[in-house]
Amino acid sequence: MALWGGRFTEGPDQRFKDYNDSLKFDYRLALEDIEGSICWADAICEAGVLDKEECENLKNALKELYAEIKDDIHKIAGAGDEDIHSYVERRLIEKVGSLGKKLHTGRSRNDQVALDLKLWCLKACCRVRNAILNLQKELVKVAKENQGALFPGYTHLQRAQPVTFSHWILAYVQMFERDYKRLGNTLDLLSTCPLGSAALAGTAYNIDRDKLARALGFKEATANSLDAVSDRDHVMELLSDASISMVHLSRLAEDLIIYNSGEAHFVELSDKVTSGSSLMPQKKNPDALELIRGKCGRVVGALTGMMVTCKALPLAYDKDLQEDKERLFDAMDTWEDSLYMASLVFEGIKLNKEAAENAAKGGYSNATELADYLVSKGIPFREAHSIVGRVVLYAISMQKPLEAMSVEEFKQFNAVIGDDVYPCLQLENIIARRDIKGGTAPLQTAKEIALWEDLLAKR
Ligand code: ARG
Repeated sequence: MALWGGRFTEGPDQRFKDYNDSLKFDYRLALEDIEGSICWADAICEAGVLDKEECENLKNALKELYAEIKDDIHKIAGAGDEDIHSYVERRLIEKVGSLGKKLHTGRSRNDQVALDLKLWCLKACCRVRNAILNLQKELVKVAKENQGALFPGYTHLQRAQPVTFSHWILAYVQMFERDYKRLGNTLDLLSTCPLGSAALAGTAYNIDRDKLARALGFKEATANSLDAVSDRDHVMELLSDASISMVHLSRLAEDLIIYNSGEAHFVELSDKVTSGSSLMPQKKNPDALELIRGKCGRVVGALTGMMVTCKALPLAYDKDLQEDKERLFDAMDTWEDSLYMASLVFEGIKLNKEAAENAAKGGYSNATELADYLVSKGIPFREAHSIVGRVVLYAISMQKPLEAMSVEEFKQFNAVIGDDVYPCLQLENIIARRDIKGGTAPLQTAKEIALWEDLLAKR
């Protein structure tokens, strides 16, 4: 049963129907559609459209329908109705007869779908925030278990300066914290209720829209009906939040893929998140991480697609907007799954301390310390930099690290270098010296871990 047809003399072409119908994906809005309808019944009852008994009957039937479908809304997808709004209305009329036909008074599918989708976004935001929280907790746990473990720090993928493994992990906790907060901003901005905007001009019935908004969990009603039915900023924002976070996840994945490689072997991934090769029996591939990295493209694609759909769209509602859902659903699912997959990777990760420490020691990553040492002896930094450059060149030619050079060898480059240079070149000391807010010193990391544990436990 279509929700329209009076002014048509012919039915739709089947190919058009297949192209136009959205139930196959907007069934996911079923519960939100019913929640909105229950509040709408109350609103039009107060406006005098329904009497109390009619309102109760309608609400009871809607609640019954809610209970019937809530455990398996996927079943609705193939019901054959045009969209989720048509499905709910048909089922309602089957339950209460022509009373069901009164519910759509003063409402349009345009404000209805805008509402349903916002309600869905609210719930999706909460789901993803939980997934972020879960990942942050897992990361902090691994950071705590490995406190003080040395790790090579890179710039340009060249060993630069030593850091700790925990410091590296906590960098990602920061990124995911921004993702968490970004979702908070999105939630804040989307908290206006479009219901009562009707098709585009506002409903003609005397409804308390702010009260309706609050009943549905929003802060207030939207302020302009044309904007309300055509606004999909929250979809673009969520897709943008998802894209940024997937970029973070892809960086995490890439770092770990490199650290897990046979050449580096700083970490080992568990069997639970890796897979083998059908041909090469020795292989253990980091598939979970590669998929996280790969799925980033899919989510960024959804954002791009949505922006292009909305570009130059005339006010108010246009059917183009139906294209908002599939990509939003897919992107949010992908984001949530990827966050949980990253948590799973960290659940079973093993740090290979020796390999990481050896790598941190190599690559002349203590060269900056030697320059700082010269500075402490009164040599201007620029000059010290150039002296150390020559020392490194020499050490490379001798195939040894700086700390293996004798004082006599050092003195060829500058006479101020004495025995006291060796402690400066030691990894543990290098790390401990970065004892300022944001630095890699274990004291700082321990403080940060305690702060995170506290904050995340309260969330
Ligand atoms: N399925 C539609 C959508 O997702 C619902 C709104 C339809 N409105 C209309 N005037 N045809 O956007």
